[in-house]
Parts: sequence; structure tokens; C-alpha cells
Amino acid sequence: MFALLVLALLGFSLMDGVLSSPVKSTHPRENGTEVSISPNTTLAHSPHWVIYSDRSVSGLTGPPPVSEIEGFNVFALSFLLVAGAFDQAQAWTQLTPTRRATIKAEYAAAGIKLIVSLFGSTDAPTSNGADPIATANTMADWVIQYGLDGVDVDYEDFDAINAGDGKAEAWLASFTRQLRVKLPQGIFLLTHAPVAPWFSPGQFGGGAYLTVDSTVGSLIDWYNLQFYNQGADEYTTCAGLLINSSSTWPQSALFQIAANGVPLEKLVIGKPATTSDASNGFMSTSTLARCLSIAKNFGWSAGAMVWEFPDANSTWIGSVRRLSFPV
Ligand SMILES: *[C@@H]1O[C@H](CO)[C@@H](O)[C@H](O)[C@H]1NC(C)=O
Ligand SMILES: *[C@@H]1O[C@H](CO)[C@@H](O)[C@H](O)[C@H]1NC(C)=O
Ligand SMILES: *[C@@H]1O[C@H](CO)[C@@H](O)[C@H](O)[C@H]1NC(C)=O
Ligand SMILES: *[C@@H]1O[C@H](CO)[C@@H](O)[C@H](O)[C@H]1NC(C)=O
Repeated sequence: MFALLVLALLGFSLMDGVLSSPVKSTHPRENGTEVSISPNTTLAHSPHWVIYSDRSVSGLTGPPPVSEIEGFNVFALSFLLVAGAFDQAQAWTQLTPTRRATIKAEYAAAGIKLIVSLFGSTDAPTSNGADPIATANTMADWVIQYGLDGVDVDYEDFDAINAGDGKAEAWLASFTRQLRVKLPQGIFLLTHAPVAPWFSPGQFGGGAYLTVDSTVGSLIDWYNLQFYNQGADEYTTCAGLLINSSSTWPQSALFQIAANGVPLEKLVIGKPATTSDASNGFMSTSTLARCLSIAKNFGWSAGAMVWEFPDANSTWIGSVRRLSFPV
């Protein structure tokens, strides 16, 4: 009841009803031909069930068979860096075009989008002086060349955000706008994966992701929020995850982020699959399932994200969705 009262007081807004108009457009395919495509206005409709894949898995080259990840609808090859493709993003480039087309078709038939995640924790593009426009052009071209459904911007340039001078936020805005020039909304997915504290008001001189959302949020389909690696006791209970975060990162719980103006339907809850997939922030699948059920009762339906395959798979997501959006 207390939680209900707090949530009632938050006054968060529900759906903002963003849909792109059903115009036709062309975009280049992997083999260089242009095909006409109707933007699928349901492309970015929640719930999103997102799984990252960076680690190599013995006996597997490229993405896993659909049967291992049923229950997810987005698979994020990780990572494409400023220096080029690494790990599972690189593995994708090493498959033959025929093999890529086969896997892509199998995923499409199962309703699973295949995207590439950019940067990750080893890349610091703003600090390293990468040009946001040129970087966006190169990365978008890569997405088109390799026939993927879009990108996830896993920007983790903590030094740039912590500098508090607004340069990180400006870099992200330029980068996101330029990505959208080449990867139009409604045709390609474009998500971001900020750590949850970057939505904490008043903690960063440049405003961190509250600024990013107010400048280019309309171009971002949703946020894969990293509710982990932020301290031993951060976001580890349903109350701390959903309703009231700690005094270390104030107002960065799910419904607090929504109350601060970020659309609730864009807030995807990200968690590590196991305790060894992150320093902290882990929740058991049964606790996470309970949190999702509570959130759903308060009008949330954005979905969940997990780091990473193969520690999470169809069994994991089946357990997590069981009490809210059962598979
Ligand atoms: C190019 O790809 C499109 C879409 O996948 C396909 O319909 C077409 O036949 C391909 N063209 C060639 C020359 O391979
Ligand atoms: C649009 O996307 C949704 C979700 O991926 C899918 O179920 C639907 O079949 C698609 N519609 C068209 C016309 O491609
Ligand atoms: C998912 O992972 C668990 C734990 O590693 C494993 O026991 C199970 O067989 C896997 N399920 C699928 C469908 O791959
Ligand atoms: C939320 O958490 C902060 C920090 O721990 C605490 O000071 C505050 O009283 C809490 N608010 C509610 C409504 O529980």
C-alpha cells in the first residue's frame, strides 16, 4: 500500500504515443540493391526483451539458434567500436553472406531483431576525441552493410560525463542525430543503454541522460537501463529498483526516472544474468519476475534487458517473464 501511495504521488505520464507515419522509403540492402520498405510502425512497440552477446561460446560461430533464445525479441551483437568490430560483432562479419542471410531470416521469422551494440565499457569516444558525425556515419554504414535491424548505443564514457561540462551530452546528441539520418526511425531500431544513475537529477554538470533525453529522446526508441555495477546495495530490491533509489543516486529508480519526464514505455529494466556477469546489482530470476509484475501493475510494459548470453537464454527469460508477460 505504501508503494502504491508513493507511485500515486509520482504522477508519471504513461504512453506518449510516438508513431512514425507510414511513408514508404528505400534503404540499401547488404548486396547493394535498394528495396522499398514500409516503415513498420510497430517496430519499437514494447515490451522489449533484449539480450546482449559479447562472449564467445564454444561450438558456436555467430548468433545462437533461435531455440536457445526464444522469449527474447532483440539480440545485440557486441561490440562495434570506433576502431572497428570486436567479439560477436566481428564474428558476424566473418560469416559468409549466405550464412548471415539465413540466420537473419530465421531470427526475423521468430520475431527477433538483430542489432549491434556500440562502444561498451572499453571505448570512450568523447574522451578520445572521436568525431560524432564521422563515427555515426561509419557505424551506420556498417549496420547497413551487414544487414542488421539497428543499433544500441552503449556509451560508457564515464570521464566525459563526470567532467560535467556538457561535452558528453552534446557528443551524444550529435551522434544520435547523425545515426538517424542514415538509420531512419520506424525502419531501424536505435536504443541507448545508459547506467541508471545517469538519470539522477543534479548529479552531473551537463545533466547526463536527462539532457540527452530532452534533446534527442524523440529519436531514441527506448533505453536499456543498466541497473547494475552501481554499488553493492543499488537496485537490488523491487523497492530500490522501481520506487525509490538510494541517496547515492537519488531519483534513479524506474518510476522516479519516469516522474522526471522520461517516457515510462521507454524504460527497459537491465540486469546481469548471473552474479559473475556484473560486479553487483544481481537479482534472482524469481525476484526480478516479481519486480516486473509489480511494475506492470502500475502501467509499465517496456520490458527487460540482460547481460549476457549464454548465461541468460530462453530458460532465463521464461522465468523472468513468468509473472508479467508470460512466454
Ligand atoms: C539482393 O537482396 C535482395 C533482398 O534480400 C534480394 O531480393 C535480391 O534478389 C538480391 N539481389 C542480388 C543480385 O543478389
Ligand atoms: C511489424 O513488426 C512486428 C514486430 O516485430 C511484427 O509482428 C509484424 O509482423 C511486422 N509487420 C509487418 C507488416 O512487417
Ligand atoms: C539455459 O541455460 C541453463 C543454464 O546454463 C541451461 O541449464 C539450459 O539448458 C539452457 N536452456 C536452453 C534452452 O538453452
Ligand atoms: C527515498 O530514499 C531516500 C534516500 O534513501 C530517503 O531519504 C527518502 O526518505 C526516501 N523516500 C521515501 C518516500 O521513502
